[in-house]
Amino acid sequence: MKIFTVANSKGGSGKTTTAFNLGHELARLGKKILMVDFDPQASLTNSFKVELPQDQIYIEDLVSKAGQGRLSVGDAIVQPKPNLFLIPSTGALGNLESELKGPAGLVRLRECLKGVLHLGFDAVIIDPPGSSDVFMSMSLLAANEVIIPARPTDTDIATLREFVPFIEEHRALNPALSIRGIVLNQVQSSSKNAQFYLDRLTEIGLGSLIFKSSIRSAIDAANSLAYGQCSSEHKPKAPVSKDYQELAQEVAPWL
Ligand SMILES: Nc1ncnc2c1ncn2[C@@H]1O[C@H](COP(=O)(O)OP(=O)(O)O)[C@@H](O)[C@H]1O
Ligand SMILES: [Mg+2]
Repeated sequence: MKIFTVANSKGGSGKTTTAFNLGHELARLGKKILMVDFDPQASLTNSFKVELPQDQIYIEDLVSKAGQGRLSVGDAIVQPKPNLFLIPSTGALGNLESELKGPAGLVRLRECLKGVLHLGFDAVIIDPPGSSDVFMSMSLLAANEVIIPARPTDTDIATLREFVPFIEEHRALNPALSIRGIVLNQVQSSSKNAQFYLDRLTEIGLGSLIFKSSIRSAIDAANSLAYGQCSSEHKPKAPVSKDYQELAQEVAPWL
């Protein structure tokens, strides 16, 4: 079972949108996928548009000191769609920041995900928030693979120069961690623009990490989540839906 975190310390780089679509496309390919919302903003949870019961167990309950070892991770899992499962979060996750900061706290997500090993998932996809904070670190300590969505912009490329070493620092505590790839997201139709940033990434030694597939900038990608749908469900014929399908085709053989 592969554990991915779709991470970038830059907010708005497309983590949630990419994670949501990738999870859906892998599920459509017949893989059993567990998505974990690890962002106090709960954008991933909200994107699923599922009604959760009053007594729902959230990720913050599982990683809190009070819940650890007392709650079973399986009890927090909901299934919004065929092959697609979710551990939801709420804003209350943010209240745990100081509790989780220490060495014992930082590995709690990893400990918690050990509890899903026997549940038959092909992959777990974690959606962390966009800063180099405690939740990001916890996702990097829990994952074996990082998928980095980055926009072809100067600021996103500059962020990667710091984010890649930040990921590498976590390898001391999590030797299994590797960068699976960088997905260029919100690529404009001008291929010259994309090529310019591919060259910049190559210059800073990250060229070999770029996925063959990239995701174009498209209003359908942005809008579909508001309907609780991935791009392929919302607009099956949209070119951006094909982009996400191709990304999933690249990822699926590693599962
Ligand atoms: N391929 C895309 N085309 C157009 N808009 C996109 C695309 N991917 C993401 N967005 C939009 O960019 C914004 C940030 O995306 P989001 O996935 O929430 O980023 P993050 O989780 O990294 O903060 C959102 O408004 C989203 O709808
Ligand atoms: Mg997000």
